[in-house]
Amino acid sequence: MNERREQNEQSPRAFFGRRKGHPLRAHQAELYGDLLPRLALDISKLAPADLRTLFPVPVTELRLEIGFGGGEHFIEQASGNPRTGFIGIEPFVNGMAKALAAIEARALSNVRLSADDAVQVLEWFPAGAFARVDLLYPDPWPKRRHWKRRFVQDETLIALARILRSGGEFRFATDIPDYTAWTLARVLRSNDFIWTAERADDWRLPWPQFSGTRYEAKAKREGRTPCYLIFRRK
Ligand SMILES: C[S@@+](CC[C@H](N)C(=O)[O-])C[C@H]1O[C@@H](n2cnc3c(N)ncnc32)[C@H](O)[C@@H]1O
Repeated sequence: MNERREQNEQSPRAFFGRRKGHPLRAHQAELYGDLLPRLALDISKLAPADLRTLFPVPVTELRLEIGFGGGEHFIEQASGNPRTGFIGIEPFVNGMAKALAAIEARALSNVRLSADDAVQVLEWFPAGAFARVDLLYPDPWPKRRHWKRRFVQDETLIALARILRSGGEFRFATDIPDYTAWTLARVLRSNDFIWTAERADDWRLPWPQFSGTRYEAKAKREGRTPCYLIFRRK
């Protein structure tokens, strides 16, 4: 097994991604040590009943992005929606460091972060807390024996349904057709969500204000066609 992957193969709840890449530059390391603890959720304590109280500015509703990578989409969305509170989860240290640099540069006050495994963080959130959850280009784990590592599982959909308010949205994008089919099959059998698509362009084209991600750009460069799915919480 790849040494950079976490060990617990028994549990579908393990984090299988990469935690570290190249060493951080000095300022990034500083931000990781100083800024991240100020913005990070403390999941060792009980969550506040109203997550909006986590933010120093008034926010009307909350959005979550799981596995934001280098934070390109997360930062654009948070910058463009200052009255929405954004929580981003990314255990990959180099991705988190990049996002921290952008948060500092743009002086964003409507963001909170977690470097923990999102499966654990989902359990911490109060029920109905979010208006929207984005899962963009999650690791596809193409080999059959690794499918259990995919983020979308029946159990994680139950967890997502719990934290979304009624009418809230789970948005998913991937460039891997098999992961599209996998996700559709699981969401449609979950009973908690309605797939909102009415015509092919609803899944062929990104939703309005979608600001793109690094993995999306890579997929397009390499000739793969993304698919965009919006599911509404019943
Ligand atoms: C293929 S990358 C996509 C990154 C970004 N969303 C994009 O589109 O550019 C998948 C990301 O999900 C993160 N990830 C994987 N498993 C995760 C988990 N259990 N909790 C949170 N993030 C996770 C990885 O660290 C990685 O950065």
